[in-house]
Parts: sequence; structure tokens; C-alpha cells
Amino acid sequence: MSAQRKRTVVLISGRGSNMTALIAAASDPAFPAEIVGVISDKADAAGLGVAKARGIATQVISRAGHGSKQAHDAAIDAALAAFNAEIVALAGYMRILTPGFVQKWQGRMINIHPALLPAFKGLDTHARALAAGIRIHGCTVHFVTPEMDDGPIIAQAAVPVMVGDNADTLAARVLKAEHQLYPLALGLVAEGKARMAAGRTVLAHFADDADNATSVVMAPDPLREEADLEHLARITP
Ligand code: GRF
Repeated sequence: MSAQRKRTVVLISGRGSNMTALIAAASDPAFPAEIVGVISDKADAAGLGVAKARGIATQVISRAGHGSKQAHDAAIDAALAAFNAEIVALAGYMRILTPGFVQKWQGRMINIHPALLPAFKGLDTHARALAAGIRIHGCTVHFVTPEMDDGPIIAQAAVPVMVGDNADTLAARVLKAEHQLYPLALGLVAEGKARMAAGRTVLAHFADDADNATSVVMAPDPLREEADLEHLARITP
């Protein structure tokens, strides 16, 4: 496995808890991706310290240091080339990437979004979910395409909206699911079990569990134990 592990660079802007989950998963030599670098557009991103402490190479590439969005993304692209990156994982990277950059990495760049897409694209997803009164919320990992939060869905995890939730309690519940889902989705992409073709995600090669492949993918074990669908049905009014 180790010879084929996909070289993955994580792009962050802040806290980096999803980055940390990816690094933790990839610390297992059997995981199909290795995290070879972390790039931040913010010098004060808390995630940089976490990555360094785990021995991961970090780089700050700030927008201010570049004359245009294109020049900024070109610098990121050059850094990715220097890392020999094969996969890019956006993890709380708070900038819209330019179409040329996105097209270059299409099918090899993934993002995590804190809502069940295509609902609640954009920011403040938890407050908007509460305002809409939905009872099931969650998170999505998708391939990145030029339009924001619009690319083909790779995997999703659902959590209940509880009576009495506020945006913070709901965000915390979703974040826990994010930390399960993102390593699962990165693993699928790195293994070639999820790939992008003709604008869609193709899930394939689940030879070890051909009959139940999709349901296994969509319900990572730790999440299923905590909140299986039957349980969700009972606790959501
Ligand atoms: C996460 O909720 C992620 O889904 C969203 O931004 C947040 C980043 O959090 N894109 P962290 O930096 O991974 O802790």
C-alpha cells in the first residue's frame, strides 16, 4: 500500500480541525493517502501549529503578497507542484479559487461543506438550517468545480437537529460528523473508489462488499453506532 499512497496537500484558513482529522487518519500507513503538506492563506491560522507539531510541512501563501487572485492561485499551484501533490483537500479554506486553478485540479480536489448539499451552499449554514426549521442536517464532501459548493457529491453524513439547538450546538454536532466523513471520503478518492467522470461522482470497485457498497460508504461505522437512521427517525419530531 505505502508505495501507492496518494500525496495529499490540505488547504486551510483557520482552526484546521478537519485537517487534523485527515492527518490522524493518514498517520495509519494503511490509509491510502498521505498528508505531505499544509498550505494556509492566513499566517495566523491555528491549524498551522497543529500541522507543524505533527511533523507536516507547512507553507503560508497570503493573498496580500500577490497582485491578483490569479497570481495567488498560481503561487499555490506552484507550491502544490513542489509537494508533488496528487490530491488537494480544502478544509476550511475560505477563498473562492479561480476557474483556471479549479479546472486544472478538477477530479483531484475535494472540499468539505457543513450542510447536506445542495441545501445551504455558502456561509452560516447552521444558523440558516435552524431558521429553515429542518430536522436533519449534516455535512458533505464533494469534488470542487468552479461554482461554489456545487461539485459532485462524494459522501454525506446526517445529524439530527435537536430541540433547543443553537448554531453553536448544531455546528459542534455536525463538526463531529465532518471529522468522520472527511477521512472516509479522502480514502475513497485516494483508492480510486470515488472518481469524477462527466460531471458526476462514480462510486466503484467495492469488490469486498459489492451488495452493500453504497450503504457502507454513506454510513461510516462510528456515526452509524451513534445515530443510525432508525434512531434519527425516533428522535426527530
Ligand atoms: C468546517 O465546518 C468545514 O466544513 C467548513 O469550514 C469549517 C472549517 O473548520 N468548510 P476547521 O478549520 O476544519 O476546524
